[in-house]
Amino acid sequence: MFDKTDERFPIKTQRTDLNHCGIAPLYSGAAEAVREFCEARVQRGVLGASTYGTIQKNFRRWAARLLRTTASNVSFMKNAAEGLSAIAAGYPFKPGDEVISYIHEYPSNHYPWLLQERRGVKLKLLPNRSLSQTTDNNRPCAWSLDDLETLVSARTRIVAISHVQFTSGFAADLQQLGAFCHERDIDLVVDAAQSLGCLPVHAEPWHISAVVSSGWKWLMGPIGCGLLYTSPALRSKLQIVMAGADIVTQGDDYLNHTWNPYSDARMFEYSTVQIAYEAGLLRCLQEIFTTYSSEQIRDEIFSLQDVFCAHLDTSRLRPLVWPQQNRSGILPLICDYPEALSRKATDKGITVTSRGGYLRVAPHFYNDDDQLTRAAQLLSSLA
Ligand SMILES: Cc1ncc(COP(=O)(O)O)c(C=O)c1O
Repeated sequence: MFDKTDERFPIKTQRTDLNHCGIAPLYSGAAEAVREFCEARVQRGVLGASTYGTIQKNFRRWAARLLRTTASNVSFMKNAAEGLSAIAAGYPFKPGDEVISYIHEYPSNHYPWLLQERRGVKLKLLPNRSLSQTTDNNRPCAWSLDDLETLVSARTRIVAISHVQFTSGFAADLQQLGAFCHERDIDLVVDAAQSLGCLPVHAEPWHISAVVSSGWKWLMGPIGCGLLYTSPALRSKLQIVMAGADIVTQGDDYLNHTWNPYSDARMFEYSTVQIAYEAGLLRCLQEIFTTYSSEQIRDEIFSLQDVFCAHLDTSRLRPLVWPQQNRSGILPLICDYPEALSRKATDKGITVTSRGGYLRVAPHFYNDDDQLTRAAQLLSSLA
């Protein structure tokens, strides 16, 4: 069912890349789209860039399909931090308001909230919990809904959390979390950098106010691109904090300085964007992530992880397999010297990375059983 051919994924002829949680291989179709745009400009100058508006329009439309929303709620971004910063800085906090996050979040989902302390906002952090018998509290692991319930107060405005933790691969149950926040009138802001393109993320039915993601991990796009979903209700509260030529509805009537900012998600695309990269990420969405459903991709990834585990020497490399609802694309292994092991494996043609004391194995749908079998055997022998 999946097109896993070497033509579309030429890296398979070179190595087994299991680093989709880090910098993933660029999808060959995305590279083609970037080249096409650049070449048109080389040959035809501004005339070659005439697809700019169409790329933007199509990007919003296709990204909206993936997120189960409408195009007016989607913005193209440079990275996850850009979207999170726009929300954090633009949110109408009052002194004493609170944001709740997790103690081991990725920095892009920590500092934008921490900066709001200068506006009198309190950042409360969920403690680390080892929710599984196979883990200890020495490594980042998970957070619990009980702790969240304890931390929430009448001043809680936002819960800012990763869908999937970049270290342990713990996936939050977003549907449950969305319902929790919705009942309490709290805005749920989700960093989906480690899930979009790998797990379903249904922004609207799950009552999520904002979803951000970088585009070069599970979406296999160019480095330096990403996207942002915002609900109309969230946008109506936010102050604009970044402004430029493209934020107003009068388009290229540049001498007309009437303040008419967009109220849809274009309000975050304040000026000229990295359009060649947007074309690249659009191609990923068109040819992969809306061709296959997120559920199909997720199931294929889990099946590849199962093949890997079946061939692993678990006396030396202990996989942390979460319950189904908390499972993700990251399969973390507990072992001695994960950094040295990841370097050795990468030297021998299997790209893996280590973070937070785990060795992370992160296959994507186009990897195959043979690759995962060989990867497990090699890692077992090196461990
Ligand atoms: C959870 C999470 N969020 C965000 C990012 C990337 O952030 P940015 O797009 O700001 O570079 C990563 C990268 O590892 C991540 O793991």
